[in-house]
Amino acid sequence: MRSVLDAPAPIERAVPSKQPVGRPAFLAFVADGETERLLQECVTQLALGQGTILRGGITKAIEHLGQHRSPHILIVDVTGIDLPISKVNELADVCEPGVAVVAIGNRNEIGLYRDLLHAGVADYVVKPVNQQLLAKALTSGRAHTGESSPIHKKLGSLVTFVGARGGVGTTTLAVNTAWYLAHRQSRRVALVDLDLQNGDCALALDIKPTSGLREALANPLRIDNTLLERVMTPVGERLFVLSSEEPLAEDLHFTAVAVETLIAALREQFHYVIVDVPRTPAAPYRRALDMADFCVLVADQTLRSVRDTVRLRTVFGDRDGKRRNILVVNRHGEGGRHAVTLREIEHVVETKPKSVIPFQPTLFTTVAGAVKIAAAHKGKFTDAIAGLALELSGRPPERRRWWRAEK
Ligand SMILES: Nc1ncnc2c1ncn2[C@@H]1O[C@H](COP(=O)(O)OP(=O)(O)O)[C@@H](O)[C@H]1O
Ligand SMILES: [Mg+2]
Repeated sequence: MRSVLDAPAPIERAVPSKQPVGRPAFLAFVADGETERLLQECVTQLALGQGTILRGGITKAIEHLGQHRSPHILIVDVTGIDLPISKVNELADVCEPGVAVVAIGNRNEIGLYRDLLHAGVADYVVKPVNQQLLAKALTSGRAHTGESSPIHKKLGSLVTFVGARGGVGTTTLAVNTAWYLAHRQSRRVALVDLDLQNGDCALALDIKPTSGLREALANPLRIDNTLLERVMTPVGERLFVLSSEEPLAEDLHFTAVAVETLIAALREQFHYVIVDVPRTPAAPYRRALDMADFCVLVADQTLRSVRDTVRLRTVFGDRDGKRRNILVVNRHGEGGRHAVTLREIEHVVETKPKSVIPFQPTLFTTVAGAVKIAAAHKGKFTDAIAGLALELSGRPPERRRWWRAEK
């Protein structure tokens, strides 16, 4: 019998091509040897694909998925867990979209079964398990299509950043928030720069702009996981960027439907899709704003910015139940005595800024050509980005001495 320390037993079979590349077909965390043995036989017989069976329960699964890619089918043991539903909610929070969860446990209660399904698991198998029960749970429509399973159907959050005017720091905040969520909260993040001709996000992250975004938006019917995998530029393990620098002399045309298709595909694969949206009110950009879960409106403390914030707010409308508008004041302190005060902004815009980000020019100077990620450095700027990330995620920063972990 294998223990958790043993090498996982891979079971070869190609993952269906429409599923995101890089994710195992299944992953199991089981608490006892007998269940492990039966499950091993079952996945071999069903040829479920490549996956791993580990010893442990749902707590271990949560720990693991906070750091690794989620499988298509996740099997978790909830035996001995006092509050299984809250654990499932925690699990749902760390899982990528598109995971079908099958729970195994020793409590044979209809109430628990109903609550687990309600919390998003695809099926619940009561111990002692047998091959037949396991096979039924793993091959059921719910485990495969995620039919009516909220964890499976959950989508990544779409966060749009738009500036009251140019130069207020919209790109800076979009990039740093994306970087922070990926590197400090271990979320999988897609960063999309919809200003295709300037490549500002690529510049801020010191990566090469590519023509992938243009390609994707020109052929929305071809947008699938394989195309995305090919055209996105990774920054570390969890941040993936689409940022182009198309020739200024060319007229670029892409449709609102193309933007919608791209965002919809990304939301199936990432915890967050962060979009830097140009403030020109063209239909494709408006579509991104309309789809957003959070719309971050960035302003500074100049009179023009305040005026433009009011104008933009009338376009956005108020929070409509689905989308939340978040007003952020960046470059705080830059204008000194001549700046419009935060209180005045709140009064004129009729919204309290959710986040106030200090003006810290030294953070943005390039040293010997090397671009720095401001949010990688401890200080007030990063504290403010952490506050914004908390607003978006509801998750406090991971408790670790992160400022040493990565540059
Ligand atoms: N909080 C800040 N403190 C100091 N400089 C900042 C801050 N936020 C942004 N900047 C700088 O302001 C400039 C414009 O930022 P950018 O993000 O490109 O603005 P936008 O996208 O709104 O046009 C950049 O040089 C950036 O480094
Ligand atoms: Mg910009």
